Amino acid sequence: MYLCLNMVNHFLTTIALISASQAQTTNDWTEYVDPFIGTEGSVPGTAFNGGNIFPGPVVPFGAVKIGPDTTSFNSSIGANAGYTPDGNVTAFSLTHVSGTGGGPVYGVVSQMPLLSLENVNLLDNLTYMATRMGNDTASVGYYKSTFENGIVTELSASSHTGFLQYTFPGTERGNVLVDLSHYLPSYGGGSQSQFYSNGEITLSADGRRYQGYGVYRGAFSNTYQIYFCGQFDTAPTTSRAFSGRYNDPYWPAIFNEHPVYGNSSTISGGPLTYQYGNRVGAIFSFSPNTTTLKSKVAISWKSTSQACQNLGAEIPHWNLTFVVTGVKKLWNDDVLGKITTTDLSNKTRLQMFYTGLYHTHLMPTDKSGENPHWETNEPTYDDYYTFWDTFRCLNSLMLLISPVRAAGIIRSAINIWRNENFMPDGRSGFYNGQVQGGSNSDNVLADAYVKGLQMGINWTDGYAAMKTDAELTPYNTFDPGDTTCSTKEGRGALPNWIDLGYVSPVYSRSLSRTVEYSLNDFAVAQVAKDLEPESYQKYLNRSAYGSGWQYLWQHNLTSLNFTGFLAPLYQNGTREGPADYDPLGCGACEGGSVAYEALPWEYSWTVPFDMDTLIDFMGGNHATESRLDTMFIPNLRTSGVGVGGLNGAGTTLFNPGNEPSFSTPLLYNYLPGRQWKTVLQTRGIVNTYYNSGKAGLPGNSDSGALDSWMIWQMLGLYPVATQPIYLIGAPWFADISMAVGDGKRLIITAQNLSDSSYYVQSLMVDGQSWNQSWLFHDDIKNGGSLEFILGSSPSMWDTGILPPSPGHIVEGEGIPIGDQP
Ligand SMILES: *[C@@H]1O[C@H](CO)[C@@H](O)[C@H](O)[C@H]1NC(C)=O
Ligand SMILES: *[C@@H]1O[C@H](CO)[C@@H](O)[C@H](O)[C@H]1NC(C)=O
Ligand SMILES: *[C@@H]1O[C@H](CO)[C@@H](O)[C@H](O)[C@H]1NC(C)=O
Ligand SMILES: *[C@@H]1O[C@H](CO)[C@@H](O)[C@H](O)[C@H]1NC(C)=O
Ligand SMILES: *[C@@H]1O[C@H](CO)[C@@H](O)[C@H](O)[C@H]1NC(C)=O
Ligand SMILES: *[C@@H]1O[C@H](CO)[C@@H](O)[C@H](O)[C@H]1NC(C)=O
Ligand SMILES: *[C@@H]1O[C@H](CO)[C@@H](O)[C@H](O)[C@H]1NC(C)=O
Ligand SMILES: *[C@@H]1O[C@H](CO)[C@@H](O)[C@H](O)[C@H]1NC(C)=O
Ligand SMILES: *[C@@H]1O[C@H](CO)[C@@H](O)[C@H](O)[C@H]1NC(C)=O
Ligand SMILES: *[C@@H]1O[C@H](CO)[C@@H](O)[C@H](O)[C@H]1NC(C)=O
Ligand SMILES: *[C@@H]1O[C@H](CO)[C@@H](O)[C@H](O)[C@H]1NC(C)=O
Ligand SMILES: *[C@@H]1O[C@H](CO)[C@@H](O)[C@H](O)[C@H]1NC(C)=O
Repeated sequence: MYLCLNMVNHFLTTIALISASQAQTTNDWTEYVDPFIGTEGSVPGTAFNGGNIFPGPVVPFGAVKIGPDTTSFNSSIGANAGYTPDGNVTAFSLTHVSGTGGGPVYGVVSQMPLLSLENVNLLDNLTYMATRMGNDTASVGYYKSTFENGIVTELSASSHTGFLQYTFPGTERGNVLVDLSHYLPSYGGGSQSQFYSNGEITLSADGRRYQGYGVYRGAFSNTYQIYFCGQFDTAPTTSRAFSGRYNDPYWPAIFNEHPVYGNSSTISGGPLTYQYGNRVGAIFSFSPNTTTLKSKVAISWKSTSQACQNLGAEIPHWNLTFVVTGVKKLWNDDVLGKITTTDLSNKTRLQMFYTGLYHTHLMPTDKSGENPHWETNEPTYDDYYTFWDTFRCLNSLMLLISPVRAAGIIRSAINIWRNENFMPDGRSGFYNGQVQGGSNSDNVLADAYVKGLQMGINWTDGYAAMKTDAELTPYNTFDPGDTTCSTKEGRGALPNWIDLGYVSPVYSRSLSRTVEYSLNDFAVAQVAKDLEPESYQKYLNRSAYGSGWQYLWQHNLTSLNFTGFLAPLYQNGTREGPADYDPLGCGACEGGSVAYEALPWEYSWTVPFDMDTLIDFMGGNHATESRLDTMFIPNLRTSGVGVGGLNGAGTTLFNPGNEPSFSTPLLYNYLPGRQWKTVLQTRGIVNTYYNSGKAGLPGNSDSGALDSWMIWQMLGLYPVATQPIYLIGAPWFADISMAVGDGKRLIITAQNLSDSSYYVQSLMVDGQSWNQSWLFHDDIKNGGSLEFILGSSPSMWDTGILPPSPGHIVEGEGIPIGDQP
């Protein structure tokens, strides 16, 4: 009877939801996107400790991200996306990244609107930088900034073209400065700074058009050349190109340098390969009658003519509103409409959700058709920033809702391997770099492979690329942040890994590298199982028994009353004395430390392929549960990442602001009857650290990684990357309709949901009652339904089979158990 009623209910709900979701396709989900969420941090009104979110107009994965670049004379305040709320504007530039840390990249190809040129030295931005009046405003595809001098700038963008509309006040003459030597400075200086190198600009006879290129070097993007093509809708009364010596910070600053105006239509900074070329720019002056001035500027990484083609093809008109409308439609159709709900009761939550979804589709940058280094018909993505950040849950989200993008990002990575010998972990300016731990593209590929993603991915090559990571030592790049081995690509510490089965402190980050290499080799094994079965056991062994993370496990090491921790192991097989090592610390926790950006306590949880062994090592279910509980006790984190703000938040050992901790609160699902604690902890984390304010992210968004973590919590699912499974949480909306691949939708419903009723009482998957705290990708990949009934008190509904440990190998047998069918 009960069952029967339920089935009728299920049928009716499904009908209702399908028609609701059809009605919603006309909804404008961009209304819930607030581009300023994640632009501020712990000091209100500043970007200090913020998400470094890019707030300007952009299409999904757009090559152009147009927005203001501002001054910030505090080296702790990274204007990594150009924008700070409190700095002064030095220009509006077309290229940015979103949510990143480290030294800033890009901020090139710019314009700056000016009024009087009196007392302005075009070579010195401090003489013309503009203070803003009030706060900038933005919505999807639109940005507006008002200067105290009265100039209003409005922006929009298409894939490769920026649209700028200026309103000059009163009857003053408006000018536009184009300065090729403008880029985002690194106020901390140091090895991650970028520099202008060279450039060239050509003006048309009437001054309405200009084109040329700039060359930039340094930072994560190394050296690249970018071409531009600009147009104004009104001819200037005068237009002049200029040049001047470049104040490279490594040169003595020459502050009294003034521009020299050229007498020909082209000015160049010097021979193309000369890295200390002169600064180059142009100043366009308009009639006082020109109160509204429009400009379009397009970019290309191949040629000025391709930049001009992009301009003509993408925005053949001068209608700002039309551009903005087009951008909103793209976001609705391609991204936001992929997950819809009829539960519109809580606007704050909708803003958090849809802004988060927006943030997950800004990076990497789609530069298809713009590869300067080799001809290809494959998709070309750049600004992988980085797989270390995104492999845990962002790439899995994309795989589900935007599979064409997910496949394109993988195809591009494989194509980089074809041409440059390694897939990227990080990549910017078409240059691999920023390896933080393992070769985490392996995890992304394995995740896609086990979930059956095809869409043009050549898996023969994909597997070969993964094997390269597992077998070929990349040359040492002597990165000042870690001189022990390559940080460019691959696995720098491979010699130790292959010889010893672990990474010793001969290499820096030996502990975190060991744990990550273990997962990487598990990932390789996952694909080898099908494509090279004879190598399956080898890679599985390298990730597990008698190797990898298990080697580092010191069974008698105690911390906070718990016994058994990862601890560094020397080449000769001995360990540091207890006085020298504490799993609660990692020194600076940076490139030169034993563990990178997370405590050994945190890294201890990052072996999702063999939770069986981990729980065993930790002393069984009960001890594991109380160790998990300890992760969320305030004030236990007294050193390392997050203390003092940067790269972290809060004071628990679990760090909500950085990726290594991401899966920890979900691990209760591996303990019988404890799924309710996953719900409790993840809800608490979202409620404490995420909100719809400008400081609504607990740290750098990391290309949307943090946002994707929050989205998964609100969906009530969480991927275990490299395995075709999802852990189950509890949804935050009464209903969700989610695109899963080819036109299919997964309907998630949550009865009795409220702010005091969120524990799972029961679950039906496709109409079948469910008692497992996890499900297979196959269970949802063709759509279907997840029907949750929630309640205000915990229920031990999860009595079924525990999530698998496919990397579990029994000592002496070398046979994996718990392997998924
Ligand atoms: C402007 O932004 C600041 C913080 O960035 C905020 O405190 C203030 O309320 C905003 N002002 C308006 C008018 O929105
Ligand atoms: C940078 O700004 C932050 C936040 O206001 C402040 O705590 C820090 O002391 C500043 N650093 C410097 C060098 O001024
Ligand atoms: C911005 O400009 C104002 C006015 O010139 C100046 O007082 C302030 O120090 C500048 N701030 C920054 C961060 O550049
Ligand atoms: C502005 O000028 C200062 C001082 O010369 C320089 O350090 C900085 O890099 C410039 N900023 C931009 C965005 O070009
Ligand atoms: C342009 O011509 C003027 C006047 O002859 C001269 O002073 C100036 O140096 C020339 N500019 C360049 C870049 O040669
Ligand atoms: C500005 O407009 C006025 C009135 O239409 C006209 O007389 C004048 O010539 C214009 N000035 C310029 C520089 O075009
Ligand atoms: C600009 O585009 C908008 C949106 O499509 C349209 O409503 C408006 O009429 C257009 N304006 C002009 C001047 O064509
Ligand atoms: C709306 O959602 C936010 C974010 O999840 C939450 O903090 C708030 O309590 C909710 N408000 C209501 C009235 O449910
Ligand atoms: C995959 O790439 C390899 C070499 O790059 C090629 O030989 C093979 O035909 C490709 N496979 C498919 C299915 O395209
Ligand atoms: C822990 O085990 C190691 C290796 O078995 C041993 O050398 C060491 O003395 C033990 N330490 C303690 C505190 O028992
Ligand atoms: C560890 O155990 C001692 C003695 O039982 C107790 O006083 C202390 O509070 C415990 N510490 C933690 C972090 O649980
Ligand atoms: C093992 O190597 C470490 C680090 O080089 C060294 O400090 C220690 O003395 C060595 N121990 C033995 C027994 O050789």
